[in-house]
Amino acid sequence: MKALVYNGPGQKNLQERPKPVIEAGTDAIIQITRTTICGTDLHILKGDVATCLPGTTLGHEGVGVVESVGAGVTTFKPGDRVLISCISACGRCEYCRKSMYSHCTTGGWLLGHRINGTQAEFVRIPHADTSLHPIPPGADEEALVMLSDILPTGFECGVLNGKISPGASVAIVGSGPIGLAALLTAQFYAPATLIMVDIDDNRLAVAKRFGATHSVNSSAGDAARQVMALTGGRGVDTAIEAVGIPATFGLCQDIVAPGGTIANVGVHGVKADLHLERLWSHNVTITTGLVDTFSIPMLLKTVQSKRIDAAQLITHRFKLDNILQAYDTFGKAADTKALKVIIEA
Ligand SMILES: NC(=O)c1ccc[n+]([C@@H]2O[C@H](COP(=O)([O-])OP(=O)(O)OC[C@H]3O[C@@H](n4cnc5c(N)ncnc54)[C@H](O)[C@@H]3O)[C@@H](O)[C@H]2O)c1
Ligand SMILES: [Zn+2]
Ligand SMILES: [Zn+2]
Repeated sequence: MKALVYNGPGQKNLQERPKPVIEAGTDAIIQITRTTICGTDLHILKGDVATCLPGTTLGHEGVGVVESVGAGVTTFKPGDRVLISCISACGRCEYCRKSMYSHCTTGGWLLGHRINGTQAEFVRIPHADTSLHPIPPGADEEALVMLSDILPTGFECGVLNGKISPGASVAIVGSGPIGLAALLTAQFYAPATLIMVDIDDNRLAVAKRFGATHSVNSSAGDAARQVMALTGGRGVDTAIEAVGIPATFGLCQDIVAPGGTIANVGVHGVKADLHLERLWSHNVTITTGLVDTFSIPMLLKTVQSKRIDAAQLITHRFKLDNILQAYDTFGKAADTKALKVIIEA
């Protein structure tokens, strides 16, 4: 079968790989129908994720059809259409029993990281019963690809950790797919002010279409002053960090109001400063987290009922044969205006 393989920093190839087989009774083999590329795949290709070894098929998002199941799988059968969670979970260990699936002792973020992922014709899913979700008949499967990772990430690590509440003021720093997913799901809680921050005017225009009340271009270096002006000098109740660099974590500390929350979502590759000399007396909460995807069933209902329009995050479509072109388009988002690219296998 064809698969997009990480062959070391800066090297990826679409190449022939053996079709996966059932290795444990709890596995399922899924024939991928649609997958996508994540910012995290680009981090891997840069060499930022040392735990992803050369030779690994990339991809941790997608939908498909069950091809075969191990003897221990009871929820799914061949022919079932399924949504794949980016997090594999046994459902039984101490962390899974707390819904902290990202820390499952025999699961967590495995796909396209520690085991072969979804950017291929077939993928092996461990702990299939508790890592796959049934797709309702008639669903827009392309839109559901947004539920494997980005919508649960924006919602769990941004909106829920950030404790967004009705009438609150919110700033989301970073208007990439993750920041935009936080923007869409923040609106479940009717905050009064939703300020989006980025350096890319196209992404800020998209954010306005998706429901932002204000946008701030931070390239001039005065984003904190602009956010303070928009909030009457008070700052925001919730600041969501959705970039993953020291400057944007710093900005969140500059704009959080007393009693507010900084919810970090970005993956940080280097250390960032924490200004306790200013924040110690401000009753501020700082949260961190890797997505657990416990919210997928709830989010699936909100997409099905059109409470949120997940399909609007998709800007480009490619066949698996052209996945290198898809990476190129996704990697040059400022020029191509790409958000999420769909790859049809
Ligand atoms: N915690 C988790 O579980 C989890 C899961 C998935 C992704 N992530 C991380 O979330 C982050 C966002 O993901 P994404 O896919 O949206 O990435 P992305 O690269 O597409 O988006 C980041 C956005 O930040 C903007 N940006 C860059 N520098 C900036 C600056 N100085 N000020 C303001 N904006 C700036 C970019 O223009 C871009 O729009 C990444 O770090 C990703 O690895 C975390
Ligand atoms: Zn991802
Ligand atoms: Zn577990």
